[in-house]
Amino acid sequence: MKKIEQAPLVGAVVLPQQTERKKVRGALKIAGAVLMVSILVTGVGYENTKDIKITPLEIRSEAVPDALDGVTVIHLSDIHMDDKWGNSMSPELLGSLQERIDALGLSEEKLITVLTGDIVNKKTSLEMVAQYAEALSRFPGQKFFVWGNHDIMSKYRNNTRFLAIRKIIEDAGFVFAGEEEETIQWSDGEELSVIGTPSFQKQRGRFDKDFYKKLTTQVQEKTALILAHNMDGMMPVLEHLDGDVVFSGHTHGEQVKVFPRFMQNKIVLDWMLRGYKSPHTEGLKQINENSWAEISRGIGSNKLWIVPALRIGTRPEVPIVTFQKEK
Ligand SMILES: [Fe+2]
Repeated sequence: MKKIEQAPLVGAVVLPQQTERKKVRGALKIAGAVLMVSILVTGVGYENTKDIKITPLEIRSEAVPDALDGVTVIHLSDIHMDDKWGNSMSPELLGSLQERIDALGLSEEKLITVLTGDIVNKKTSLEMVAQYAEALSRFPGQKFFVWGNHDIMSKYRNNTRFLAIRKIIEDAGFVFAGEEEETIQWSDGEELSVIGTPSFQKQRGRFDKDFYKKLTTQVQEKTALILAHNMDGMMPVLEHLDGDVVFSGHTHGEQVKVFPRFMQNKIVLDWMLRGYKSPHTEGLKQINENSWAEISRGIGSNKLWIVPALRIGTRPEVPIVTFQKEK
């Protein structure tokens, strides 16, 4: 009797291939979903960088020094002028921001505009700076500026271009406050000092002892508006402030702020927060009875390699701070 050979079971041969195909399909679906979500988040995050808020802040207190009474400060920081792909700012956006501020009808009697660094990126062209400066020239009041770490990177790359950038900003009406102490003489006889601190190429720079000694004496003797790009460098001086106010930027409000503060402190997911020493990353802070610090989230936003500039959970802003002495 002829033995009938049993045909191989179809399932035993095909099933593993089907399983492989299913796995590949599943992986492709997940990859597609991740890609779609990434594109969506990037698109929304990039649009957020253009949504610049005007943040009105008021300090109303008996402790406001006479030299700050009635003063309004428009705080511009971290413009990061550029025209590269993925950059958030443009001369038009800065121009429209100036028009929005102009429409507020602020009194020009004691009005100051400060620009606290990261004005350019390290390769920003002079032509681009000139276009932005046209909008800067229309900002009102007495105007002062200091450099930020990105400006210093630009200096190390090309000092001749850096000096030309300084001239363009000065021609737009801004006085560089990083060398000599400047003094504003108000019409009521009060005097307000404007002191700018240097900045560093790297974020976590510190000043030398002589600098701190001089600054500590200055803030104790006068009412001063201190322009410091990075609050990190100001930490040793804060306890000595006496009737002063610090304006600072640099943090970009952390730029991508998904997790609440208590989680960030533990798992340090936020790349902007790494190594950042100052506990003051945004907003108005009372340092002591008669001194304050205001840390802007900045106007512009950084891009990261091929990732365009993003803002998630934190919008760019222009704080406008007014001081009123309560009689
Ligand atoms: Fe910046």
